[in-house]
Amino acid sequence: MSILKAVRGTRDLLPPETALWNRIEATARAVFARYNFGEIRTPIFEDTALFARSVGEETDIVSKEMYTWEDRARAQSEKAQSLTLRPENTAGVVRAYIEHQLGESGQLQKLYYIGPQFRRERPQKGRYRQFSQIGAEVIGPPSAGSESPLRDAEILEMLATFLDELGITGWTLELNSVGSAADRARYNDTLRAALVPVVGQMCVDCQRRAVTNPLRVLDCKVPADQPIIATLPVIADSLDESSRLHFAAVMAALDAAKVPYTRNHRLVRGLDYYTRTTFEFTHGGLGAQNALLGGGRYDGLSEAIGGPKAPGIGFAMGEDRLVLTLQALESAPLLLADAFIAPLGEALNPAALVLARELRRAGLRIELGDGNFRLKKSFEAADKTARRIVILGEDELQSGILTVKTFATGMQTKVPRSELCIFLRQ
Ligand code: HAM
Repeated sequence: MSILKAVRGTRDLLPPETALWNRIEATARAVFARYNFGEIRTPIFEDTALFARSVGEETDIVSKEMYTWEDRARAQSEKAQSLTLRPENTAGVVRAYIEHQLGESGQLQKLYYIGPQFRRERPQKGRYRQFSQIGAEVIGPPSAGSESPLRDAEILEMLATFLDELGITGWTLELNSVGSAADRARYNDTLRAALVPVVGQMCVDCQRRAVTNPLRVLDCKVPADQPIIATLPVIADSLDESSRLHFAAVMAALDAAKVPYTRNHRLVRGLDYYTRTTFEFTHGGLGAQNALLGGGRYDGLSEAIGGPKAPGIGFAMGEDRLVLTLQALESAPLLLADAFIAPLGEALNPAALVLARELRRAGLRIELGDGNFRLKKSFEAADKTARRIVILGEDELQSGILTVKTFATGMQTKVPRSELCIFLRQ
């Protein structure tokens, strides 16, 4: 029989690497809490129409990468429904905002999420078909200040703080403004005109996009098209006064907070819902898939899926890429127990369980051996899994003085049982 394996583009996360995932998630939760965000959990699959209407039919995500299926009708009167595994989480959050009338409170909603997303992309380092995002959205009625450039700057400052606290150094924040819907319509016209003389030399996707949605030409990754793309007009020249002022205010607040950024005129992002501010944090250590995270403003998204006016801004980080970056920056994480308890002989197994229970209840990480093993075998196992070994023989049990060996120093120490906890914590 052939051996079954995890499906292409998916993977198992194993210890000790999962400790790193937990550390990243704990840091995100702690940092987001300080900015007064609360957690939202939305379903992993949604009505396909949600993504078509928000992310956009013409994007790679919707046109090529979604896991979509017809859900069977349960009764004859029921229609089959088209469902999709979420390729991203902003659409689901905005749907939930509308469905639960969260705007009625008149307050900004500050929501974060951590969870799997699914895109049928070509797998490579840092790019998977099931990947995890940590993201957040700030959304609310305009009366709550949801359009303020301060919200954009605050989100970017929070991301810089998060990456600093996580220990990720050397990131670059790339920033752009894609303007309002009207600015983009104007820019699309400008681009369409500029593409006419050159599009014949471009890839077939670009030839189609030049007609349907010229902005998407800027996403093209085909190397031969890049010199042509470099000559196209930039969106900054199509922004109206209010978009220009909004962007200037975002940059002024970032300058004041000393969050460094570089402007990238080509940063239009691969999703159609963006308006005004768009951004990506990249990291050189990641290779081709260098975007640690991306995000931006989406002032018209709620209305596009049938909701009230509810401007918003948010981001999502690729958790897989945070892990890769940390692994490249740090030496491999070692997840060692505080101690390995080695009972000398099977008769001491119950006493060893009692000792392990005491120490674990005191908060220590303990590996429990087995009195059936020879001492040499216990030492070998302990050396691989723990920082210290605690020997528990008949003498130790009677006297209450335990023998502890610390592997890093090779030191052997006699420790009274009552002080063992304190000793192991050192
Ligand atoms: P996105 O740029 O499509 O934006 O994805 C955000 C991040 O998710 C990327 O920067 C990358 O780190 C990670 N990512 C995307 N695809 C993959 C993949 N196949 N494998 C591994 N990591 C991946 C969004 O999803 C928007 N919803 C972000 C947002 C929130 N905008 C506003 N609010």
